[in-house]
Amino acid sequence: MCTRLKESRKIVGAMIQHITYNEFLPKLLGKFTMKKYGLELSAQGFSNSYDPDADITVPAAFGAAAFRFGHSLLPDAMERWSAGHKFLGSRRFSEMFQQPYDLHKPGWLDQYLLGMVNQASQAMDDAVTSQVTNHLFQEPANDYGKDLASINIQRAREHGIPSYSAWRQYCKLPAIKTWSSMLTDISNATVKAYYDLYTTPEDVDLWSAGVSERSIDDSIVGPTFGCIIAKTFSDLKKGDRFWYENPGLPNSFTLEQLTEIKKVKLSRVLCDNSDNIVTIQPFAMELPSQQKNNRVACKGHILPQMDLWAWKEYTGCCTKKKVPNLNNLNPQIHKVQINEWNKEDDNLHKLIQAIAVNISSSKPTNA
Ligand code: HEM
Repeated sequence: MCTRLKESRKIVGAMIQHITYNEFLPKLLGKFTMKKYGLELSAQGFSNSYDPDADITVPAAFGAAAFRFGHSLLPDAMERWSAGHKFLGSRRFSEMFQQPYDLHKPGWLDQYLLGMVNQASQAMDDAVTSQVTNHLFQEPANDYGKDLASINIQRAREHGIPSYSAWRQYCKLPAIKTWSSMLTDISNATVKAYYDLYTTPEDVDLWSAGVSERSIDDSIVGPTFGCIIAKTFSDLKKGDRFWYENPGLPNSFTLEQLTEIKKVKLSRVLCDNSDNIVTIQPFAMELPSQQKNNRVACKGHILPQMDLWAWKEYTGCCTKKKVPNLNNLNPQIHKVQINEWNKEDDNLHKLIQAIAVNISSSKPTNA
């Protein structure tokens, strides 16, 4: 793989880590859990949380249950919105499974992206849209499809995932020994439904009870899913030698590069990679609001942009010089600056050629 590709891949990986831990996890887990599990990023510069002994095994309960919390948030349909943020239309999930044809229509991808930043998700609770509980992967000629809630429960049983009660104990939460002890975190109606279905509260399945837990404080998930998800993301951060904030390793970013990466927001990525998103709220995972998350122009300086000059290697001299940030210069000066660098590159090129000629002319002859 060529170096430029490797470095681009490294930058994209760092951007994903930054958006995940800076924008997504705080929304999902809330401030308290972020702090408790050491998931907070350092506001500026490096942070060394690397622990070579960290066990980065992702628990089966994470994939087969806890991180499937998202199935409870699904709406019935995906909305399309215009660049001016007006609702255009929507399509039910059951019409979209394995039928991605809308995405072939010019402009529709951006409209779905704009839909995703403008459409509210459903609450995390024991209700799951019938689009996935009755119509998952429904064939156009049929009236019904599969049931994702049943698949989740069955998949976890196949994997031998311990029950909700067992995971609560792992998370140091009060164990569920009686039906009434469930009521601290789950609504009466849901506990009553479990009582009708299960022989003992210790049998209740993790995914089902996990999505039914009331969320804590400013988080989306409840205490049990919060614990499993936070522990997993914490291990993945601590056990990652290539974590983007790590200092002093051969793969580490320079401080200047890291500062640029920490400017990245999902909203900027959406602006830069779409054709027709003109304005967007800075925190793309939260709905726009005039008080806290008012839409701003993609063009312009309010949404910070990563400056790739921090990756420029200065070839004009043997010592690496600081490369100026050209973003703030006017185009004329920018051009002059680049010309100067090109001239230095030219000079260097000529020098190398001269040395090469010199070496070949001073080669000893065979005679
Ligand atoms: C329309 C939206 C979605 C549909 C139709 C869908 C459907 C599915 C299906 C069919 C599976 C495989 C189930 C199995 O065979 O065990 C699955 C797995 C999974 N889903 Fe979803 N899902 C959706 C959205 C989400 C969201 C929003 C999240 C989380 C934020 C999520 C998290 C997961 C996870 C973690 C798995 C397990 C993946 C694995 O371990 O391989 N899904 N989903």
